[in-house]
Amino acid sequence: MELTKEEKDMLAGKYGKAVKQSMEILVSLGEIFGAKRLIDVSSVQIAGVSYHNLGDAGLEYLADLAKDGKVRVLTTLNPAGMDLENWKALGISEDFAEKQVKVIDAFKKMGVITTCTCTPYFIGNVPHFGEHVAWSESSAVAYANSVMGLKTNREGGPSALASALTGKTPEFGLHLDENRQAQVIVNVKAEMKTVPDFGALGYAIGKRIGNKIPLIKGVKKASVEQLKSFCASVATYGGTALFHMEGITPDKTTVPKESIEITQKDVDGAKKDLNDTDEVDLVAIGCPHLSLKEVEEVAKMLEGKKVRKEMWICIARPIKKIADMMGYTKMIEDAGAKFACDTCMAVAPLKGRFRCLATDSAKACFYGRGKNSFKTRFATIPELIREATR
Ligand code: F3S
Repeated sequence: MELTKEEKDMLAGKYGKAVKQSMEILVSLGEIFGAKRLIDVSSVQIAGVSYHNLGDAGLEYLADLAKDGKVRVLTTLNPAGMDLENWKALGISEDFAEKQVKVIDAFKKMGVITTCTCTPYFIGNVPHFGEHVAWSESSAVAYANSVMGLKTNREGGPSALASALTGKTPEFGLHLDENRQAQVIVNVKAEMKTVPDFGALGYAIGKRIGNKIPLIKGVKKASVEQLKSFCASVATYGGTALFHMEGITPDKTTVPKESIEITQKDVDGAKKDLNDTDEVDLVAIGCPHLSLKEVEEVAKMLEGKKVRKEMWICIARPIKKIADMMGYTKMIEDAGAKFACDTCMAVAPLKGRFRCLATDSAKACFYGRGKNSFKTRFATIPELIREATR
């Protein structure tokens, strides 16, 4: 791979140990994937923040990088294993909390913005159309590539951090326009109205096309909230990191020959697959983290009611601050629901604490089942609020 003088100096250790280690990761990746050069990135989103996933080895790795590493571009974090302020109320142990705080401190020392969210685009990590970035977290990657028109591969935590510390990424995969063209047309012949409709659509498409890039036709309109749900679902059940949706997403694509159809029966079937219980003991919304509009809707629906089941609202802390200002937090907390800022129902250590998760997110069903052995109920937010307050 061809390196500039500055990049060679980085690799030789002239910018310190953290930069040297980061360059070694990026150059190795570039060589494996046949990149000709490194390119600049304007933003990074790092996944792998929960101590639950990192363990002591991960924590040591971060603490070591933090000795002399400083990020060169705007960098935000994915959800951590707990609400960094309100962890006790959510049942997190002292031991876990202590380790999780050390993880966050290491990122802070490196200059990372330690807002932990999978919707960095709601809290100011918003590069311009066409910019190269290095994001990890599958739903955010799909949203970045497809809805925002950014260019990123699906990074792992270490490669994203390496990009943050150097401002570089190897040019391969979805950084190249020729790899961003649709490979299969998906004709949608189903009514798309609610967030779970889009989650179910992502499930049905993902299961059919795997990680191919689809050109989706037949969806007449989609809100930001519906698109974020679709991104999470299609990436989870299929693995795609980029889709084109005719009339909705901004990037151009050539038109492929292969085509498939997704019918109402497929979408209804997906919903049926995601519902395997009525006996709910945890209601959790905000996968991916809620938008301000969704928080407002939840607050208005909960006003004057009382929840009778554990109910979590997963959200980025800056969005919660606006909710505080607008009085939504009080409406939600007065009803007895709990905010889970900085974390979510999938990365928090919940195994054994609950049996049945009710959620409006197809992705949360996947992780609830796989990681925590929950049964799941998949429904709209108004239905979930009826369930929680019953
Ligand atoms: Fe975000 Fe957690 Fe869902 S990281 S996309 S809320 S599983």
